[in-house]
Amino acid sequence: MRAARLAALLLVAALPAAAADYTPGRPLESHAGARLDYALKCKGCHGLRGQGTPGHVPRLEGFVGLFTHLPEGRDYLMRVPGVARSVLDDVRLTAVLNWVLETYGREQVAPGFRPFTVAEVAAARLRPLEDRKGLRDRMLAELRAKGLLAPEEDGIGRSPEPRAPGGG
Ligand code: HEC
Repeated sequence: MRAARLAALLLVAALPAAAADYTPGRPLESHAGARLDYALKCKGCHGLRGQGTPGHVPRLEGFVGLFTHLPEGRDYLMRVPGVARSVLDDVRLTAVLNWVLETYGREQVAPGFRPFTVAEVAAARLRPLEDRKGLRDRMLAELRAKGLLAPEEDGIGRSPEPRAPGGG
């Protein structure tokens, strides 16, 4: 029993570092600390379980991975203001982004999707995203056309708060 466990440990230790491949469910070395950074910098809006803030902030859980199916989606994920303007440095931001996709996007991430690299995140976050609402709406329409997203689903939903009397 002990020998078998030791052998298994040695086998794992001998495996080459898999950092170059996106392997859902397997935390990468670069992810150390990403969960904590998410909790400190993103959770306030997107929720600890990635559930978002209905009516205001999109859920990441079961949704964020969909963007990886679109050519412009990868760029969008790095440039959306909550990401691009984070106080996190490029290395930590990249780790958080990859952690987010692995944690909340595992089921939806496109086959062959490669993790974000620090170099591309560093470059992309400097370019402000113009008309992000229009871009997001167009991407959601593309996802619906591909059959990946239900017609009424937008990841944001409706705020549960009752409307003010007389309001719209
Ligand atoms: C102040 C609230 C807020 C914070 C903090 C925030 N976000 Fe966001 N995030 C949003 C909103 C709102 C959107 C929808 C797009 C937009 O309007 O900017 C969004 C969109 C996104 C998207 C694209 C998903 C989609 O459905 O459009 C990702 C990915 C994302 N955020 C990740 C993060 C990460 C990672 C952090 C922490 C580093 C973070 N966000 C911090 C509010 C926030």
